[in-house]
Amino acid sequence: MIPLLERYSDYLPLTAETPLLTLGEGSTPLLRARHLERELGCGVLYLKYEGMNPTGSFKDRGMVLAVAKAVERGARSVICASTGNTAASAAAYAASAGLACSVILPAGYVAPGKLAQALVYGARVVPIDGTFDQALALVRGAAAVSGAELVNSVNPFRLEGQKTGAFEICDTLGSSPDVVALPVGNAGNITAYWKGFREYRDRNVVQGVPRMWGFQAEGAAPLVQGRPVDHPQTLATAIRIGKPARGDEALAAVANSGGLLDAVSDTEIMDAYRLVASTEGVMCEPASAASIAGIRKRVAAGEDLSESTVVAILTGHGLKDPATALAQFGELVPVPATLESVLHPIGTAPV
Ligand code: F0G
Repeated sequence: MIPLLERYSDYLPLTAETPLLTLGEGSTPLLRARHLERELGCGVLYLKYEGMNPTGSFKDRGMVLAVAKAVERGARSVICASTGNTAASAAAYAASAGLACSVILPAGYVAPGKLAQALVYGARVVPIDGTFDQALALVRGAAAVSGAELVNSVNPFRLEGQKTGAFEICDTLGSSPDVVALPVGNAGNITAYWKGFREYRDRNVVQGVPRMWGFQAEGAAPLVQGRPVDHPQTLATAIRIGKPARGDEALAAVANSGGLLDAVSDTEIMDAYRLVASTEGVMCEPASAASIAGIRKRVAAGEDLSESTVVAILTGHGLKDPATALAQFGELVPVPATLESVLHPIGTAPV
């Protein structure tokens, strides 16, 4: 596998002084979802499984470049606000580059896997009594006074790295898909994908661009509602964001691609989360399933995708958030260790 910065060096702002960091990011699977495409009514549906990145989310594509550029300019530390995945990714790449890392998180709303990652990779973890949006405001101030590199998606290098997801989709398909669906939080990823698709079209690698479909959680849908949300709420904590930093660019991506933004409820998200895992064998995190929930909702509302090639970006790995996974099920009560009792709950069919 070619490291991301080398694979797409012609499209990235690298100089002779940019260290070619890698933890094995990018080149993630594009899986044909044959059961789900029938279930959802898509002509062809692919899952871009970004959970297969080294820290388990798409953030690694942008973080590898943001941290490399921080090293290049001589920074000694990086800082970010995060709902969890950015923190895990920043902590990992900072560790590998020999930089210090600080992360500011909304206390109580970060999935345990992500928190564990940030701690184990050696970051200084500061939970605040507040939201992601407040944390982002704080790290902007902290970066300005400390000289630490701010590695949220307000950092342009993050988006440059993340646009490679669009390149990989086109490289694998040999053309642009018709529709790309993805969850929207701080709105960096939809902005980055849109940039990537346009660059490939402008350089004549592919002919067209897809329609960009972005989905927010109903309780955290500032772009759908057209105003900031002070107290965002959703089970999909990764996208529990009320004032997206890249909101205007996300709106432009949607408008210019002929796409759409919509909100999906937590129930719709969790239904989609179980559906993609139980029909395709792909476990993503709840926020990622907003893309599947959104496609489902739009088809139910009359959108015809029966002739379309659709790609859903599954932004993070399901193992990040085992607590939310287990909360979907009842308690598993042990039975006696006898053949009779293990057969009974399974049913009488031969095992
Ligand atoms: N999916 C996952 C799994 C995420 O972690 C995020 C954002 C998104 C989707 C939304 O992407 O912000 O570019 O619109 N997570 C950030 C974080 C906010 O701190 O990890 P976006």
